[in-house]
Amino acid sequence: MEGGRRIRVAVVFGGRGPEHAISCLGGGNVLRVIDRDRYEVIPIGITTEGTWLQVADDPAKLAITGGELPTVASVAKPDAHVVPWAYQGDSAVVASAPGHIPHVLGDVDLVLPVLHGPYGEDGTIQGLLELAGVPYVGAGVLASAVSMDKEYMKLIFQARGLPVGPHVVVRDRDWPAPPLPGQGQPQVAARIEALGWPLFVKPARGGSSLGTSKASDPDQLAQAIALAREFDPKVLVEAAIEAREIEVAVLEGQGGAPPDTSLPGELRLAGGEEFYDFEAKYLDQASGMLIPAAIPAADTEQIRAMAAAAFDAVSAEGLARVDFFYTPDGQILVNEINTFPGMSPTSYFQKMWEATGLSFPEVIDRLLQTALARRPGLR
Ligand SMILES: Nc1ncnc2c1ncn2[C@@H]1O[C@H](COP(=O)(O)OP(=O)(O)O)[C@@H](O)[C@H]1O
Ligand SMILES: [Mg+2]
Repeated sequence: MEGGRRIRVAVVFGGRGPEHAISCLGGGNVLRVIDRDRYEVIPIGITTEGTWLQVADDPAKLAITGGELPTVASVAKPDAHVVPWAYQGDSAVVASAPGHIPHVLGDVDLVLPVLHGPYGEDGTIQGLLELAGVPYVGAGVLASAVSMDKEYMKLIFQARGLPVGPHVVVRDRDWPAPPLPGQGQPQVAARIEALGWPLFVKPARGGSSLGTSKASDPDQLAQAIALAREFDPKVLVEAAIEAREIEVAVLEGQGGAPPDTSLPGELRLAGGEEFYDFEAKYLDQASGMLIPAAIPAADTEQIRAMAAAAFDAVSAEGLARVDFFYTPDGQILVNEINTFPGMSPTSYFQKMWEATGLSFPEVIDRLLQTALARRPGLR
């Protein structure tokens, strides 16, 4: 604490991406638990248009009410624009009223970006904060970008010996594509055919299962690719893995120690959903997680070790959640890493830590302290 004052933390949530509402739920949940004796909190919302605003410190409004998901607009203060000023100096965040020269809001010691998906979890905000010289919680530019893009995430995991499922990347120009006999790689359609049926189709830089669907025949595949493309011009087509879904929460190790991993949790679908879709994730009260997952001790250890290895493979920092497929014959595949996992009241990141002996307020405190302790400059 500098000069006896509290550490000033900007909690940033919302954002331009499709997970705006989920980020608001997480932001509200963080505002609820953050230690006000230690931290002076400045809540900042990014609207769906990308405007930064100072918003009301009102967790109750950042919750699901009557089936309605929250937005930054619901907590916005009039004329409270914030310019995320990008220069190397003392004050990084500047508040401006319309028609006025921006005035300095005050030093922000640290930013906690509770943001998911493109323009939040993908290295863009992280780059802005690097340029502004403000410390922030979580993964840096490279780790965020690599982890957001399921094509490159899988390449890194494979290169580090972490098994991933069979998949094909479909770019704009690949689909639909005329056959080019005898040239280079087999056409995308042939490679997809080789995956067998059914298939999972998803936006490369998606999240919250938005734009993800299962396809059991060529017509459904075309529809699924069109749906995923509404979110991202780059699409992944994957062989459907028949498996239980196991997740592990990860925190950066303290004092240079290896990453700490939580007890694994196992997803439980109860609402009749075919897979872990948006409904099951946020709206279906019956879906849940069994912690610890009911799997043999040796597999638990292996999954935790793989979660730490995945964290290190992408050079993640601060926190992550690593998600696995666990097949009936005991095979373990990495599905994905999330460098800013969901933190809504129903999210499993904090539930897995709670089950492992770390409360959510303790997790938040640790994340803030880890970020403050980081040396500035290149990582
Ligand atoms: N290859 C696959 N095989 C089986 N289920 C899958 C596959 N890919 C995705 N799913 C299902 O879809 C969900 C969301 O996919 P995921 O890749 O985790 O994307 P997101 O980033 O949106 O969470 C998974 O939790 C799982 O239920
Ligand atoms: Mg997922």
